Amino acid sequence: MNTEELQKNKAHYLQLCREYIHRDGLEDLLAYLEKSDFFEAPSSTSFHLNEEGGLCKHTINVFETALALNQYITTPAIESGESMFSKPLKAESIAIATLFHDLCKVKLYHKKEKWKKDENNRWLSYPGYEIEDEFPLGHGEKSCLIVSWYMKLTAEEMLAIRWHMGMFDMGENGSSMRYSFRAALEKSPLVSLLIAADMLSANQKEKTTTY
Ligand SMILES: [Fe+2]
Ligand SMILES: [Fe+2]
Repeated sequence: MNTEELQKNKAHYLQLCREYIHRDGLEDLLAYLEKSDFFEAPSSTSFHLNEEGGLCKHTINVFETALALNQYITTPAIESGESMFSKPLKAESIAIATLFHDLCKVKLYHKKEKWKKDENNRWLSYPGYEIEDEFPLGHGEKSCLIVSWYMKLTAEEMLAIRWHMGMFDMGENGSSMRYSFRAALEKSPLVSLLIAADMLSANQKEKTTTY
């Protein structure tokens, strides 16, 4: 991503936050993100949007995907009575859960020169990232904590952010972790909405750069 795209995505992200979220602490949280590497960080080291600015772009993708899923799946199911849930989701909660779900990736990826062999078996260096987690609390758990430093989360927003990795970040069969995950899915449609939006964005809208 070039500098212009980075700036455009940053402005879009900040605009979405301010348009959809009207909760105490938002400006403090955004000030924290502006001081951090959030707007330059990649979304992963070697998978979806593993490039500069990938994290911000991924986050916007998850927000847009979640709004579409809510419009076409979640809300109609609630309104028709098919859903096991009866209360429609608030747009503010969808925004909070999606726009802040991966704050655990702040200060996580560090630029590092990497090496590979070319077709003539010669070593080539390329710009890569390595993971160094100075506070390894857990993926969703850490995102919840960082948001909570600045803003109060509702129970359903916290559950959605905490469990957004779904089965990719799960304990063994029969564990209390699995029981809690299942119970969280039944507490609010926001939990499965965020998992689905994250998965669809990462796997259908976000390319991996091969160096
Ligand atoms: Fe995540
Ligand atoms: Fe994500």
